[in-house]
Amino acid sequence: MQKILIIGSKGMLGQELVKTFKKDKDYKVIAWDREDIDISKEKEVSKKIGFTKPNIIINAAAYNAVDKCEESKKEFEIAKKINGLAPGYLAKSAKKNKAVLVHYSTDYVFNGEPEIPEPAGCTHSCGSCSLHQGFQPEVGFDENAKPSPISNYGKSKLIGEKEVAKNVKSYYIIRLSKLFGSPAMGEGAKRSFFDVMLEAGKKNKEVKAVDEETSCFTYALDLAKKTKEMLDAKKPFGIYHITNSDSCTWYEAVVELYRQAKIKTKIIPVDGNEFPRPAKRPFYSVLVNTKLNPMRSWKEALKEYLK
Ligand SMILES: NC(=O)c1ccc[n+]([C@@H]2O[C@H](COP(=O)([O-])OP(=O)(O)OC[C@H]3O[C@@H](n4cnc5c(N)ncnc54)[C@H](OP(=O)(O)O)[C@@H]3O)[C@@H](O)[C@H]2O)c1
Repeated sequence: MQKILIIGSKGMLGQELVKTFKKDKDYKVIAWDREDIDISKEKEVSKKIGFTKPNIIINAAAYNAVDKCEESKKEFEIAKKINGLAPGYLAKSAKKNKAVLVHYSTDYVFNGEPEIPEPAGCTHSCGSCSLHQGFQPEVGFDENAKPSPISNYGKSKLIGEKEVAKNVKSYYIIRLSKLFGSPAMGEGAKRSFFDVMLEAGKKNKEVKAVDEETSCFTYALDLAKKTKEMLDAKKPFGIYHITNSDSCTWYEAVVELYRQAKIKTKIIPVDGNEFPRPAKRPFYSVLVNTKLNPMRSWKEALKEYLK
């Protein structure tokens, strides 16, 4: 039996991880959230994990207030502690206890301007030689793409990735984007985009949605199952990109949401300037997965979620 410690267990992703692993009798699940451990305190982390001796540590805890940590230096310091340094403390404890560490990161470690791949053998960028015929580049950021965050949140998450890789060899860093699922259990937990837009659609005759920020939604339940699949299969350690298949902008997502929910509200596509926010978001941040079987489309996952 594997002893698995899930931290951030009341979060949107954490709660699905707990349910998923509890279904399998081969795992003994220990679920901790903020009241059980503060991951930003190194000594506490070392002591509590040393006492618990898990075989696997999953860190689903994070600071996710993207705009708040852009506006305030104090908040950025908190973000750096929770997203940046704390994963390093967990990695050190994983090493000391010979445990595997699973840690989650984000598409916001990228700048939103992916390189456009050339067909194999093409040595120039003309886009017109015979090698380009029928070539459909997969545009986005793969696991080896160079991170270059454009927001404080992205910077804090990148520090976390580096701290994990520096302090333990047995790690999985899983990048995801646009998480959705049942709201987290904590007080003041954020609702996901689809829940917010469902309510807006029911209350208003028309809504505006930003037709930018192309990336892939990630259904929390699907990600939890995929995380377990990876651990069960003992996949090689390293960085993974896990999202649902098919990319879209926020506007395209609302169109599909209202179609599925049979909401007739008019949807107006707008550009990002209509909703100015403190933190910059990547314009295009599709995470390309070259290592795992792809997950189902976010549209299918959304259908299941709406049920
Ligand atoms: N949400 C997204 O769209 C998104 C996108 C890309 C990547 N991700 C990543 O996916 C992972 C899961 O995100 P999520 O949305 O499920 O997070 P979440 O719902 O915000 O849950 C995080 C949990 O961690 C707890 N926590 C925060 N600080 C802690 C600390 N110092 N010590 C112990 N626990 C602490 C939170 O408690 P409180 O509620 O009390 O703060 C909360 O219960 C994170 O790594 C996140 O960065 C999320």
